[in-house]
Amino acid sequence: MEEQQLKQLLSSLSLIEKVGQLVQLSGEFFKTDSLVVGPLQKLGISEEILGNVGSVLNVAGSKKTHEIQKEYLEKSKHKIPLLFMGDVIYGYRTIFPIPLGLGATWNPDLIFEAYKVIGEEARLSGLNVTFAPMVDLVRDARWGRCLESTGEDQYLNSEFAKKMVAGLQYNLENQHGIASCVKHFAAYGAVEAGREYNTVDMSERRLRETYLPAYHSAITAGSKMVMTSFNTYDGVPVTANKYLLKQILRNEWRFDGVIISDYAAVSELIDHGVASNDAEATSLAINASVDIDMKSPCYANELIQLIEQGKIRESQINEAVWRVLKLKNELGLFENPYQGASCEATNIFNNENARSLALKVARESIVLLQNKNQILPLVPNKQKILIVGPYADNPSLIGLWAVYGKKEETVTILKGLTKYQKPDLLFYESGCSILNKTDELGEFGSAANFQEKLVWDNQKRNAHLEKALSLGEIADVIIFALGEHTMQSGEAGSRTEISLPKNQKQFVKKLMALKKQTILLCVSGRPLVLTDEVKQFDAILQLWFPGTEGGNAVADVLFGQTNPSGRLSMSFPYHVGQSPVYYNHFKTGRPLGKSNHSNRFVSKFIDSPVSPLFPFGYGLSYSQVKYSKLSVDVLEQQILIHVSVENQSSRDCYETIQCYIQDVSASVVRPVLELKRFKKIFLPANKKEDVLFSLTLEDLKFYRQDMTFDFESGQFIAFIGPNSRDTLEVSFEI
Ligand code: NOJ
Repeated sequence: MEEQQLKQLLSSLSLIEKVGQLVQLSGEFFKTDSLVVGPLQKLGISEEILGNVGSVLNVAGSKKTHEIQKEYLEKSKHKIPLLFMGDVIYGYRTIFPIPLGLGATWNPDLIFEAYKVIGEEARLSGLNVTFAPMVDLVRDARWGRCLESTGEDQYLNSEFAKKMVAGLQYNLENQHGIASCVKHFAAYGAVEAGREYNTVDMSERRLRETYLPAYHSAITAGSKMVMTSFNTYDGVPVTANKYLLKQILRNEWRFDGVIISDYAAVSELIDHGVASNDAEATSLAINASVDIDMKSPCYANELIQLIEQGKIRESQINEAVWRVLKLKNELGLFENPYQGASCEATNIFNNENARSLALKVARESIVLLQNKNQILPLVPNKQKILIVGPYADNPSLIGLWAVYGKKEETVTILKGLTKYQKPDLLFYESGCSILNKTDELGEFGSAANFQEKLVWDNQKRNAHLEKALSLGEIADVIIFALGEHTMQSGEAGSRTEISLPKNQKQFVKKLMALKKQTILLCVSGRPLVLTDEVKQFDAILQLWFPGTEGGNAVADVLFGQTNPSGRLSMSFPYHVGQSPVYYNHFKTGRPLGKSNHSNRFVSKFIDSPVSPLFPFGYGLSYSQVKYSKLSVDVLEQQILIHVSVENQSSRDCYETIQCYIQDVSASVVRPVLELKRFKKIFLPANKKEDVLFSLTLEDLKFYRQDMTFDFESGQFIAFIGPNSRDTLEVSFEI
C-alpha cells in the first residue's frame, strides 16, 4: 500500500479501532489451542476490542493462522490484517543448537545461514514476527536464560546479533523470512544474583559500554521491533523507562519501529510499585513509547479513558498505531494477509538442506573441554563402547525453547553412534534418570508424567544401575550422556546449584569404580560447574542442547570425522560462589599475583580460585596449534597486529584466533582484556599461517570520565591466543 493510503487508513480509524492495534492477545481469545508461554490470566476485556486486536501471540501453523486471519478479516470493517508473532528462538521445525551453543561456533556467517532457514520455516508457519534474537549479555550462569544468549562478550554478541537479524529478515521486502523483534531491551542479563525477573542496577558507563552494544547492533542491522525487558534499570522498570526507551532507543538510536512490552509487563508495573492501578501503568508505558501491550488488560481497558480525561494525547496513540500499520504494510500483509499461511508447505520444513545446516552448526557448537591422554577421537569398532545416562537415547536434545520442534525428528546420541560402531560393540543402558526429585521443576514437577519418568523407586534405580555396571565390566570405554533437565534452564530456570543433578553424580561415582576410559557428554543450557567431573573423566565434550541433528554431530566429533572447533562464549565457573565470573572484568587495586600486599590482602576468595574452571574463548581440538611471532605496527590510523599460527598435527583443523587488548592506564578503570577481533580459519595439517588483525582508533574508544566516547593516548597491550587465558602479549603506544 502507498504511504498516502496508509495515512488515510489511519485517519479513518475510530479511537477503539486504533487502541485495538496496540493490543496483543494469545490464541485462546480466538478459540484456538494456542501455545501459552507464561502465566495465563483472564483479562476481562470487551468484545469490541477483541474484534479490533492488532496482533496474536504464539499461534503458529499455516492452517491455524490462516483460519484465524480469515475469520478476523471477514468481521473486520477496515480489513487490517492481524500480525502473528511467536517465539522462534533457535529453530521452528529444524532445531539448531541453543544460542549459547551458537555463540560457541564463533562463526557469525554460519549463524546468518541458520537464521535464514529459521526465518523461512517460521514464515511458512504463518508467523510474521519472531521474538528473536535475544541478545542479553550474560555473566552469571545461575540465570537460566543464559541458554538464549550468545554469551558474555559485547563484541562477540554484537557480531551474532547483526547476523541473526539479517538472517531472519533476509529478503523480507520480497516476502521472505520474518520480522525480527530484538529482546529483551535492556540489560536483562544482569539481574541480581542471576535470579529471574530480578532488579538490574548498574552505572550508565557499564550499561552503554557493555550491555547496550548488542541491541544497538541488532537495530543497526534493521530489526523491525524491540521488546522491553522485565527488569528495572536505575529504579525504573524498563517498560516505563523513558531514559532507555525514549532517550536512548528512539532519540539516540533513531529507532522508529515497534516497541512491544514483554508478557504482561505493563500490568506488572503495579507489582513493581511504580503504578497503583492499570490506568497509571498504561500511561507510564505509553509515555515511555511502548507501542504494543503484550497480554495485559491495560491498553485495552484504559487508553480510551486516559485520552478522554486528557491525561494522554491522541497523537501519542496515532504515532504508536502508525508504527504498527507501517510494519504490517512493510510485510505486505495488506496485499496478502496470509503470507506463509497461504500454502501447506510441509516439504519445506525440516528438509535435507535445513538438516545438513543444522548438523554443520551443531558440530561447530560442540566444545571439547578435556581430552586426557588424547583418548579422543575414538576409532570405530576398535573398542567395546557402552553409552549410559539419561541423554544417551533422548530426543530432548532440542531443548525446551524449541516450542515447535518435533522430538520424533531428532537424532539421539545412541542413533548417531550406530553410524560408526557395529551393534555387537555398542551397548546402551540409561542407568539413571535425569533427576530423582522433581521439586525444582515447580508446579510442573508434580505432574504425573514427570513424576513417573523422573522419580524411580529403589528397585528400579538399582536394576538400572546393576545393568549399567554389568555392561560396564565388559566395555573398554564408557560414554556418559548426562546433564540438566530441560526445565532447569531457560525462562524462570534460575539455580543456585549449577552442577550436574545429584543422582547423576552418584551414578557416575559408582561406575567410576570400574576404572574404564570415560567420556562425559554434557547437555546443559548454561555453563555448569564441572570441577568434580574434570577430575573424574578422561574426556569432556560440552554439547549444550544441540538440536535436531545433535546425535549425528556428537558422533562425528567423538569418532574424529569432525575435529572439534567450538570455543566457549561464556566462562565456566570453578565454583558457583564465583558468580558472576567473566573474562573482561576491571582491574582491581590488589590483583592476585601482581600486588605488593601479602597474599591475604589481595582480591581473591580464600576457598576457591579466582579464575573460572574454563575461561572465555576456551576449547580444544584434536590438533596442536602453536602461536608465535606476535608483533604490532602502529600506523597513523591503524594498529596492525601480526601473529603466526602453526598446526603441528597431522589433522586439519579450524582455529579461532582471538585478539584482545588492554588499555593500561586511562581516566577510568579499564577491563583486563577486551575482545576486539577474532578469525576462525581453516588450518591444514602441518601448515603455518600468518594472521593479521587490523584495529583502528575507533576500537580503542570507551566512555571516559566525563562520559565522552573517545580514546586516550598511552600504553596498550595486545594479547593473541586460542582463548582469553593462554595468550601471547606485546605492548604498544598510541
Ligand atoms: C516472556 C519471555 O520473557 C519472552 O522472551 C517471550 O518472547 C514472551 N514471554 C512471549 O512468549
